[in-house]
Amino acid sequence: QKEPNKEIRVWCDGCYDMVHFGHANSLRQAKALGDKVIVGIHTDEEITKHKGPPVFTEEERVKMVKGIKWVDEVVLGAPYVTTLEVLDEHNCDFCVHGDDITMTAEGVDTYHLVKKANRYKEVKRTAGVSTTDLVGRMLLLTKNHFHQGSAEYAIEKEGSSNMGQDSSAKSPWTGCSQFLPTTQKIIQFSDGKAPKPGDKIVYVAGAFDLFHVGHLDFLEKAKELGDYLIVGLHTDPVVNSYKGSNYPIMNLHERVLSVLACKYVNEVVIGAPYCVTEDLLDHFKVDVVCHGQTPIALEDGKIDPYAIPKTRGIFCLIDSSNTMTTERIVERIISHRLEY
Ligand code: CTP
Ligand code: C5P
Repeated sequence: QKEPNKEIRVWCDGCYDMVHFGHANSLRQAKALGDKVIVGIHTDEEITKHKGPPVFTEEERVKMVKGIKWVDEVVLGAPYVTTLEVLDEHNCDFCVHGDDITMTAEGVDTYHLVKKANRYKEVKRTAGVSTTDLVGRMLLLTKNHFHQGSAEYAIEKEGSSNMGQDSSAKSPWTGCSQFLPTTQKIIQFSDGKAPKPGDKIVYVAGAFDLFHVGHLDFLEKAKELGDYLIVGLHTDPVVNSYKGSNYPIMNLHERVLSVLACKYVNEVVIGAPYCVTEDLLDHFKVDVVCHGQTPIALEDGKIDPYAIPKTRGIFCLIDSSNTMTTERIVERIISHRLEY
C-alpha cells in the first residue's frame, strides 16, 4: 500500500571490503531502481565470523561507500542475513544484490528471508573485477617483484580471473585478466555535466591506483577549493615509469571508473600528460592545481610536473591527513595472504 509520490528506498548490504568499481556499479543499478540508496555494511566482527577478517576496517569501509556518488545513506552493523526488520527499520521497500549467491558460514542463503517476502531484486554483477581478483594481482605483483621464480606467492587463477579471455585485455604489468571497458560504462558512470559559467575549476592528476580512503580524503579537500573538480589520470606506462615494479595494479580504464564513481569528481582526463601543460590549463580554464603530501616525481629526474601552474601562481599543496597509499594496501594484503 504505497502512497503515491512516496520515495522508493532501496537497501543494499555487504562487506564492501576493498571497494572497487564493481561495488559502485551495483549501487548505480540499485539507484536506478528507486530514489534513495541505503547501504548496510557488516561490522568487522560479523565478517570475521562468516568469512575471516576483512582487509579494511569498518571505519574505512564506511568511508569508501559514503564516497560513492549513488549512495544516500550508510548504516554500519547490517546483519549478515538480511531481515525484514532491518528493511522496515530503515524504511526500505526492497533489497538489491548482485546475481551471485552469498551464504553464511552455515551455508544459508543470506537473502532467503527477503526473497520469500518478495522484497528482493537482482542486478547484474560486474564481470572481471572482484576482491579476489585484485588480491591475486597484488600477490602476483609482489611475486614478480620480490620473489622472481619462487613459488611462495603463487596464486590460483580462478573465478573472475578467468573471465577476461581476451589476451589483449590483460594488464602488461600484472598479467592478470581485466574487466572489459566500454564507452557505455563510462557514460553510465559519468555525470555528463559541464562546468557552469563562473565555476571555479580545480585540477589534480595522479595514478589513483586501487582507489582508496587516502584518495577520497584528498579529493574531498581538493573539491573544497572550487566548484568543479577535474581528475587527470596518467596512462599505465607513465605510472609504471615512476612507480616501477608491476604498477599500476588497475589499468587506466579501471582507474577511470573508480575515480568517476567518487562523489567529488566531475570530470576525468583519460591519459593526462605527466607535466601539467599550458594547453591543459587553458583548455579546461583551470583556476587551481593541487597535489597532496606524497612525493612528486620529477620527469626524467629533472622537470617539475607542476612548474607551469607554479609560475602562474595557481598551484597549491593540500594535506589529506591520511597516510594510506597503494603500496600500503599491497603490504596489508601480503600480511593477510594466509586468509585467502
Ligand atoms: N558486486 C558486484 N560486482 C562485483 C562485485 C560485487 O555487483 N564484481 C556486488 C555484490 O553482488 C553485492 C555488492 O556488490 O551486491 C556488495 O557485496 P560484497 O559483499 O562486498 O561483495 P562481494 O561479492 O564479496 O565482492 P568481492 O567478490 O569483490 O569481494
Ligand atoms: O599516488 P597517486 O598519484 O595516486 O596520488 C594522487 C593524489 O592523491 C596526489 O596528489 C597525492 O598526493 C594525493 N594523496 C593524498 N593522500 C594520500 C594518498 C594520495 O593526498 N593518502
